Amino acid sequence: MIRTKTEEQIAKIAEACRIVKGALEFAGKKVCAGMTTAELNEFVHRYVVANGGNPSSLGYYGFPAACCVSVNEEVVHGIPGDRVIEDGDIVTVDLTVEKDGWQGDACRTFCVGNVSEDKRKLVRVTEECFFQAVEHLRAGTPLGDIGAAVQEHAESNGYGVIREFVGHGIGREMHEDPNVPNFGKRGTGVRLRANTVICIEPMIAMGTWRTETLSDGWTAVTADRKPAAHYENTVVIRPDGVQILTL
Ligand code: CO
Repeated sequence: MIRTKTEEQIAKIAEACRIVKGALEFAGKKVCAGMTTAELNEFVHRYVVANGGNPSSLGYYGFPAACCVSVNEEVVHGIPGDRVIEDGDIVTVDLTVEKDGWQGDACRTFCVGNVSEDKRKLVRVTEECFFQAVEHLRAGTPLGDIGAAVQEHAESNGYGVIREFVGHGIGREMHEDPNVPNFGKRGTGVRLRANTVICIEPMIAMGTWRTETLSDGWTAVTADRKPAAHYENTVVIRPDGVQILTL
């Protein structure tokens, strides 16, 4: 069941989103070659706590860190650890924050140092996929239009759209209804009502969209080990468009 939110609830979600936005900007300033993904997580964790939030991922189904850090071929749910970030890597930080019982969620893929032109393009097109999806989005838009917009833009650039992981509603819970796939057909699915809050998060692969999960039980990698990028914001559906809470 999709629950729309009151203005009061949206204001609470927006507060959590402000912390997410700030933490991701901070991560973008800190990330550099030679740092481990655990060290990057530590910066994010401290920022969130210092700004009055709680990192929702910590302890979620046993996840051991404040955020997910996924490098190159890692698509999502990378566990921060000993992996050393290298010059030329693309590094995704995905962060959900809880404040006063409400959640905010966003993710960015950062280019570290001398990143190849093909990886830069992947990161850029992944961000563009998000903006294509929200461009015509407003109350009454069928859910399938979001996935179709992402899929069309990604595939027209020769990229694969990850299927196993999707966007989602958000509120008191990190993941609420509806699921928001990054693929689909225009004109299909439920029509989104005003004051629905969702996370739109294109996950785009340079090669195959198929993924595998590593033996750590969390980290999803592309089956062909080619790089993938990820970009996410929490948005509110409004009668005349969307309001992006994590930008
Ligand atoms: Co999300």
